Amino acid sequence: MPDIIVADDGAIRTIRMNRPEKKNALTLAMYDAMAAAIEDAGARDDVACILLAGQAGGFCAGNDIVDFVEMTKTGALGAPILRFLHALNRADKPLVAAVAGRAVGVGTTMLLHCDHVVAAEDALLSTPFVALGLVPEAGSSLIAPRLMGHARAFELLVMGRALSAAAAKEAGIVNAVVAAAELESAALAAARTIAALPPHAVAASRRLMRGTLAQIDGQIDAEAEAFRKRLSSPEAKAAFAAFLNKKK
Ligand code: COA
Repeated sequence: MPDIIVADDGAIRTIRMNRPEKKNALTLAMYDAMAAAIEDAGARDDVACILLAGQAGGFCAGNDIVDFVEMTKTGALGAPILRFLHALNRADKPLVAAVAGRAVGVGTTMLLHCDHVVAAEDALLSTPFVALGLVPEAGSSLIAPRLMGHARAFELLVMGRALSAAAAKEAGIVNAVVAAAELESAALAAARTIAALPPHAVAASRRLMRGTLAQIDGQIDAEAEAFRKRLSSPEAKAAFAAFLNKKK
């Protein structure tokens, strides 16, 4: 099975992260596949809504840390990462997410771009960027403070304090919390409800509500530049080594 599975069912395109042996840590190839699926959906009249999903054992463990170590050697942030982040921000079709278990790093920040997020009771959202010597990404340094206020965003993005499903709902990131067994059906039902609406009116409404796409694009690029510099910092190198050595 591929690490990213794209499946169309009626007007719903499901993009499923499928690397359970690594808790859905994202490789550059996975970012590219997800970006391509989002971009392609935007060009198709038969796709009305995109559902982002992971596995029952976890939504996404963030960027693959082995890839981060590779990036410290080249000094460049992988182009597929930026392609994916801009595709998310620029997505023409509404985005729904189904989140179970751990959502770490970009696993959490991608949710800030979604229009509707359904979480299982066991979902746990966290962004340990700063503990890894890094900075927030995916436009989260702009979107999260707007969504939940500076103090709560700081707790999440800088202090790295995890949000339970209930706390994420309270913070406005998650729409509904359901039993794990109900997650997929609840998320699909939400996607179907959105897909049944007049698509051009949905698209126009999303454009009005999101408004500042160019500003978010700019923030994604500014964050990426700071992130790239932090990747080869002694703080980040030590944190990556600690994670990879624990493995052994
Ligand atoms: N990059 C690379 N490998 C990762 C990974 C990541 N982000 N997240 C998990 N993995 C790997 C583990 O190294 C392990 O590999 P192994 O079986 O070859 O040893 C495997 O996935 C399972 O992970 P494990 O840590 O044993 O699972 P867990 O259920 O105990 O913990 C997490 C799950 C997500 C809490 C934990 O894996 C974790 O903290 N991952 C790192 C998250 C992170 O910091 N991401 C970057 C954010 S910017």
